[in-house]
Amino acid sequence: MAGQIPPQFIDDLLIRVDITDVIDARVPLKKAGKNLQACCPFHNEKTPSFTVSSEKQFYHCFGCGAHGTAIGFLMEYDQMSFPEAIHELADSVGMIVPTSQSFTPNPAKQNLYELLDKVSQFYIQQLQTHPKRNEFKSYLKQRGLSSAIIEHFGIGMAPEGWDYVLKKFGGSKQAIDQLNEAGLLSSNDKGSTYDRFRNRVMFPIRDRRGRVIGFGGRVLDDSTPKYLNSPETPVFHKGHELYGLYQARKANRKLERLIIVEGYMDVIALAEKGISNAVATLGTATTPEHLRQLQRSAPEVIFCFDGDRAGREAAWRAAENALPLLGGNHQLKFMFLPEGEDPDTLVKQEGADAFNKLVTDAMNFSDFFFESLEKRVDIDSMDGRARLIEIARPYLRHIPTGVYRDMFEQRLVERAQTSTAVLHKHLETPPKAEKIINKMTGVSTGMSPIRMAITILLQHPELHKAVGDFDKIANLSRPGIAILIELLETLRQQPHLNTAALLERAREAEHADHLIKLAIQTLTLSAKELEHELVGAVEQLQQEAQKSRHEVLMAKGLSQLTQEEREEIQRLEIRMR
Ligand code: UTP
Ligand code: MN
Repeated sequence: MAGQIPPQFIDDLLIRVDITDVIDARVPLKKAGKNLQACCPFHNEKTPSFTVSSEKQFYHCFGCGAHGTAIGFLMEYDQMSFPEAIHELADSVGMIVPTSQSFTPNPAKQNLYELLDKVSQFYIQQLQTHPKRNEFKSYLKQRGLSSAIIEHFGIGMAPEGWDYVLKKFGGSKQAIDQLNEAGLLSSNDKGSTYDRFRNRVMFPIRDRRGRVIGFGGRVLDDSTPKYLNSPETPVFHKGHELYGLYQARKANRKLERLIIVEGYMDVIALAEKGISNAVATLGTATTPEHLRQLQRSAPEVIFCFDGDRAGREAAWRAAENALPLLGGNHQLKFMFLPEGEDPDTLVKQEGADAFNKLVTDAMNFSDFFFESLEKRVDIDSMDGRARLIEIARPYLRHIPTGVYRDMFEQRLVERAQTSTAVLHKHLETPPKAEKIINKMTGVSTGMSPIRMAITILLQHPELHKAVGDFDKIANLSRPGIAILIELLETLRQQPHLNTAALLERAREAEHADHLIKLAIQTLTLSAKELEHELVGAVEQLQQEAQKSRHEVLMAKGLSQLTQEEREEIQRLEIRMR
């Protein structure tokens, strides 16, 4: 299977995806120094030993030893096959896998999609035939939904009762297990199992491709919980999905902007009024993964929040999450609704035009950012302006370097009435912890130069550019030399490969585990020092190789040497000087 997807494609893919987003969407990560951490999803633990390195694009658990790339993580965590994981990742960054005919979907997941689709059809059909359908129909009507929009979003009803779905779809032990896996059942302490969704308006949640992956169900009255959502399942990950994205993409041939609102009903009520480009997160904050998906679908993304304090706070959290995605060709904006309104109530009371006007007047990201920060300081005093720099600082470094960040810094400097020189002086003071404590060198660790070179190349592939000739080292018969040569040659041909791509290339190789051990070694040298170590190690090997070749030739005795060998000796002697 692995062979059918070109390795080149996998390399590119692993450069485009960010493993921290892939994992964070499934296992929320916390910053821990240079890396990110969480309690390991693959074994039970109370303190986090599961570490994700954004630099290496690699995860590793110091507790249970689980490790791998973004591809490996999906294979383990989502139980995907290798090609499935590739497709999932490619999908998430908008790449198309070249040999799609070789792709056989995971049958277990395929069955879940089919089941979820059938159940969603069942809910729709109940809304047309169930004796109590009118209660639901009048609720939907009272909320202003036309039958066209009800159909467009596939809205249905789960009747009041414990086992409609269970009876219809749970005919065998296996079928019940599947319902469970799809998140459609609940059970109580006594071990009895029943329908998860009962007496609720049902909103099917679709993925980008339009497949039903879960549901949101709303009560008709004021009882709680108001909305019940599907749990996490092999096909449904809350932090990943956006309600309405499929419909928005379908309704607009070319999306100029997408608006992120808070609720299912907001998306639907807007669509009812002809505003077909709204999406909602599923009761979670907007994750970077959400944003990335939105930015791939439209050049402009607008966050829409309630104008009250809670709304402003939510907006600020969204802004923090958005920092790494700023710049490039993307626009991020914020719009605020009058207090106490949501998009649903606003369009109903004041019409689509009023909402559209707020869209047009949306605030730029930077305006919102500076406005929020400046509220926290007294910008008219020097102390306040100094404080502005201090509180803005931790945010700045999350913005990708580029024009946008430069302009952002420029603005900060202007607002604080200082200079970029002063700002940079502060930004670049390295935190103490980053100072090199125990320098690791070949000598002090007893690492062989081969091992050292492989380790550095794996962890910092870009340093290969500094390496000189290594044409002779193949003559050294030492463990690892072939691996080193392969790495160097691969990088000469594909200079942009990252750690993850190098490891994926070796997935099937005998030495795969060995490479992983080296990839997770801690190197405490600076980039400059590592480069020096690497260049030195390869040079040392090259010289040893030349010396041993020289010895072999000299041992032959001068009279035995061919003309070519004599010339080789001369060349070697020049180079060995
Ligand atoms: P809201 O309460 O703002 O939803 O919650 P809404 O769409 O305006 O609800 P209506 O208008 O009363 O029908 C926003 C979102 O938070 C999640 C849902 O995704 C909802 O759309 N939520 C809310 C839940 O998951 N559970 C709840 O009990 C409430
Ligand atoms: Mn509402």
